[in-house]
Amino acid sequence: MALTDPSKRLEAIPPYMFAELERKVAAKRSAGIDVISLGIGDPDTPTYPYVVEAMQAAVADPSTHQYPSNRGRPEFREAFARFYDTRFGVEIDAETEVMAAIGAKECIYNLCFAFLDPGDAALAADPGYPVYTGGPVLAGADAVVLPLVHELGFVPDFDAISATDLDRARLLFLNYPNNPTGAIVPDGLFERVVELAREHEILVVHDNAYSETTYDGYVAPSFLATPGAKDVGVEVFSLSKGFNMTGWRCAAILGNADAISTYWRLKTNIDSGNFEAVQLAGAAALDGPRAPLEEMNAIYERRRNLVVDALGTIGVEVEPPKGTIYVWAPVPEGHTSTSFAELVLE
Ligand SMILES: Cc1ncc(COP(=O)(O)O)c(C=O)c1O
Repeated sequence: MALTDPSKRLEAIPPYMFAELERKVAAKRSAGIDVISLGIGDPDTPTYPYVVEAMQAAVADPSTHQYPSNRGRPEFREAFARFYDTRFGVEIDAETEVMAAIGAKECIYNLCFAFLDPGDAALAADPGYPVYTGGPVLAGADAVVLPLVHELGFVPDFDAISATDLDRARLLFLNYPNNPTGAIVPDGLFERVVELAREHEILVVHDNAYSETTYDGYVAPSFLATPGAKDVGVEVFSLSKGFNMTGWRCAAILGNADAISTYWRLKTNIDSGNFEAVQLAGAAALDGPRAPLEEMNAIYERRRNLVVDALGTIGVEVEPPKGTIYVWAPVPEGHTSTSFAELVLE
């Protein structure tokens, strides 16, 4: 084995798709080509001024300069409790039912290490955000992919999961509004998931990255508003997209207090929490006005319409998504998503 060979676990996951895409885009750009990236979902407008101002004040406060508490500052947890109450009608105990995370990606990855052992499995929607499958594999467990079925509204067919996989599954990752299909949660799905999780003792992880990024008057619910959800699950809420804060690394995990405590136990061993000034800015974001979010969503809605209309004119019919910043369109016969994206780039 060579000095710099990666571990078998790292070898087992494909190179991070966006990293590979970035490399190809960079090569085109250095060849002088103007590439418009429709790839990674990274807001291109600045973080809202009121959040930046809160950060400026927080950075000047020496109480934010020391090692952060891994649980998160009380101001951050309390702002989340208020936000979940007013926005989703969900009661959150700021002491035990919410904890700060350094982005949803970190949180989901660490949940894999907190709950999975070799032989265990995580159920992950396919297509889906890559860490739902990479996280379990890096943790030495398996990822069982659940194809999202178009006819069911881009929902997995839970009846198709084998008894063995249900038996060894310890985590189920879901995400609505959904990346990348743009689907919104169909009526009754979260209720069905709570039942399934109860029956098979699976911890549900609902990745709520896009509830604030919605169109056409659609208001997305929290998984935690489903009766019984807190008994079987957690929700990861990221400020990245809804509040234009991708670079800030600001999220939280909410819901089942025992699960959050286990996550905390893992987290204290491997990281030191997120910068408390970021947490104070995050609290300001959650408590702040809705108008900037609505303005941003109006920009996205206009872009969505442009893309959907343009696709229509070349014969690609897509349902305009009611949420997220993605348009999921069929590729021509004979292509995979990757090969078609490469063709377009070329
Ligand atoms: C479904 C989903 N989850 C999580 C993330 C990452 O969130 P964060 O920036 O909080 O790590 C993204 C980003 O694209 C996403 O689409």
